[in-house]
Amino acid sequence: MSLAGPPDREAAIEDLLGRLSWTEKLAQLQIAYRPRFEDAAALVRSGIGAVFWPGDAARSNELQRIAREETPRGIPLLVGLDVVHGQYTIFPTPLAQAASFDPEVATADARESAAEAASGGVNWTFSPMIDVSPDLRWGRIVEGFGEDPWLTSLFGAAKVRGYQGDFGPSTLLACAKHFVGYGLAEAGRDYNAVDASEYRLRNGALEPFRVAVEAGAASVMASFNTVAGRPMHANRRYLTEVLKDEWGHLGLVVGDADGVVQLVPHGVAATESDAVALAISAGLDIEMGGHVVDIDGRAAVPEGAIDPARVDDAVRRVLRLKFARGLFGDAQVPVAAERRIPTPASRAAARAAAVRCPVLLRNDGTLPLRPGSRVLLVGPYAESIDHLGAWVQSFAAPARSLADALRDELPASSLTVLPGAGFFAPDPEARAAAVAAARDHDVVLVAVGEPSSLSGEATSRSDPRLTGDQAELIREIAATGVPFAVVLVTGRPVIVSDWIDVAPTVLMTWHLGTEGPEAIAELLVGRVSPAGRLPVSLPRAVGQIPSPYNAENTGRPPRVRGHLERQVADVALVGPGDTDDHYSSKYLDLDLGPEFPFGHGLSYSRFAYAAPEIARAVVARADLDEGIEVTIEVANVGAVTADEVVQLYVQDRVASLAPPVRRLRGARRLTLEAGASARVAFRVTAADLGFWDDAVPSRFVVESGEFDLHLGGSVAATQSVRLTVTD
Ligand code: GLC
Repeated sequence: MSLAGPPDREAAIEDLLGRLSWTEKLAQLQIAYRPRFEDAAALVRSGIGAVFWPGDAARSNELQRIAREETPRGIPLLVGLDVVHGQYTIFPTPLAQAASFDPEVATADARESAAEAASGGVNWTFSPMIDVSPDLRWGRIVEGFGEDPWLTSLFGAAKVRGYQGDFGPSTLLACAKHFVGYGLAEAGRDYNAVDASEYRLRNGALEPFRVAVEAGAASVMASFNTVAGRPMHANRRYLTEVLKDEWGHLGLVVGDADGVVQLVPHGVAATESDAVALAISAGLDIEMGGHVVDIDGRAAVPEGAIDPARVDDAVRRVLRLKFARGLFGDAQVPVAAERRIPTPASRAAARAAAVRCPVLLRNDGTLPLRPGSRVLLVGPYAESIDHLGAWVQSFAAPARSLADALRDELPASSLTVLPGAGFFAPDPEARAAAVAAARDHDVVLVAVGEPSSLSGEATSRSDPRLTGDQAELIREIAATGVPFAVVLVTGRPVIVSDWIDVAPTVLMTWHLGTEGPEAIAELLVGRVSPAGRLPVSLPRAVGQIPSPYNAENTGRPPRVRGHLERQVADVALVGPGDTDDHYSSKYLDLDLGPEFPFGHGLSYSRFAYAAPEIARAVVARADLDEGIEVTIEVANVGAVTADEVVQLYVQDRVASLAPPVRRLRGARRLTLEAGASARVAFRVTAADLGFWDDAVPSRFVVESGEFDLHLGGSVAATQSVRLTVTD
């Protein structure tokens, strides 16, 4: 569905625009939140164009009524809220959804969440968050779709379409955020500076936004960070020249919370009034915080302080969204139809999404649990109900505990539950009790992880490992020799280096939402096989961050790891003779590569691949648009039905700019019964082989030469087929 309306709508917009005063125009260019309803109502009477959701359908309707009947122009309201992965029914976090490698999971979340939120009067969500990030120190990595721009683009567009649908009464206007580069904050510290080249941004963080705009995203939110010294809230290059002029974005750009007035602490504006003028002039359309016009109608910037044509363009965009969403027709919602609790259907959708996200990092056969086993469940996530994840509202439908979900799956006599450890305070006695109990059981589930409050906004961690003595609990259970599995319930991926060496079976479940524990229990007992894949490379140590899979090869790619040993000679005297091993891009104190690679994940079955096949091994650049078909046969050679995620990575062997060693350009999740096989086909086009160059403005170029196409079950896939592109 496009924002471009029929001619009569654009004419109506121009007609209304032509009747607005300077202050009335500026009042449309802000959104504010007031916890007390009467204060929100006063804001609406003052002419504000957008408000945060007041909490239910009746109060939303009253604010819309005030806007229509008690203001001079009767312009309906945008009513915004962060509906990031659910409203009342909570779906897995976005990062968990990415691990499914199935964009239908994101679509299901967006559709269901939109219907729930819209029934209460919300018509604008500040989602999807599509910040590409390889940095798990940055707590907001949980809100995005991981380190890969292609996967993030796929999921971001799926959510935009899922939220917006046909712009009908059960849909939400989407907001792709945070534009741009927010996930590249230096040192992984939230809100910190970003100094990425346009070349790096074009082939990374910008791409998901280009795709989201192409998918018709109604709005884009500016990010808190600077890019090369210029705060994004005042960055004309990207807000206007790229987003609007080059990409043709017809919707609006909204600032992040107080992001405009933070131009003062950024040091690029002396006053809040200057900040407002700077931001709107750069291309921002709605300021979040209510600093453009005050409650008494005083404008922060006098007429003429901003180019009137820019102000008109901003108001036009705001009105376009309101017309597109049908708010000028009827902005009221039927109170009787408001949905404030999950329905069986929404729970089923959340459960179906949740079982597709967990990643089986390792399995020595301990999982799935054997029927009749005596199971000991320990760890803070045994009884914790904290499965909803970051960015959920206080009224979200709670999850149960893993213990309760397992009690539904296992005979009461066979499940024992002990705390074993807390999240933070060490508890030697609890550990000792768990260790003692282990010996009386056939298998131990060690349910550990990171509470939801440790990921999300302003939660950067310098050392993102398990907190408290959870790692000690794992090690002490391992020492008993009783078979055990680690169930890792977390928002961001955590560094696992302090216990992974003793853990032969690890299920990374993420925060899966309202139906999370039940989904985990289904996987643990084997009713469903896990098949999720890592959407972020899992580093061995925090010092390795950032280490995305799609990095450049460097001029000295490492072949062997380094070692902490004393050098007996000064390199200046003997020269860097050993450029193969010693003088290479590695760490002296780490093995090479990540702990677990991007795209990694196991299932309860095994899959085998035949050699990939390509329809044409040589193709002229001019013939690329129709695409080249590449296929691969995959077979389930295990004993149970399971899903496999077949992935396609492109490697440009020689390019005019240092190419990434791999780029994900295809993923297909399929279910195969034991013994069954299927041929999976991908179509490789110029979009998969080209890249944005380092010219300013950047150009998308497809160069001739040799490409290796790697296919398999993760980025470590070894089977490839060559494609030669000729001029
Ligand atoms: C926050 C977040 C943004 C959110 C906004 C409104 O600071 O950065 O993602 O949409 O405020 O809640």
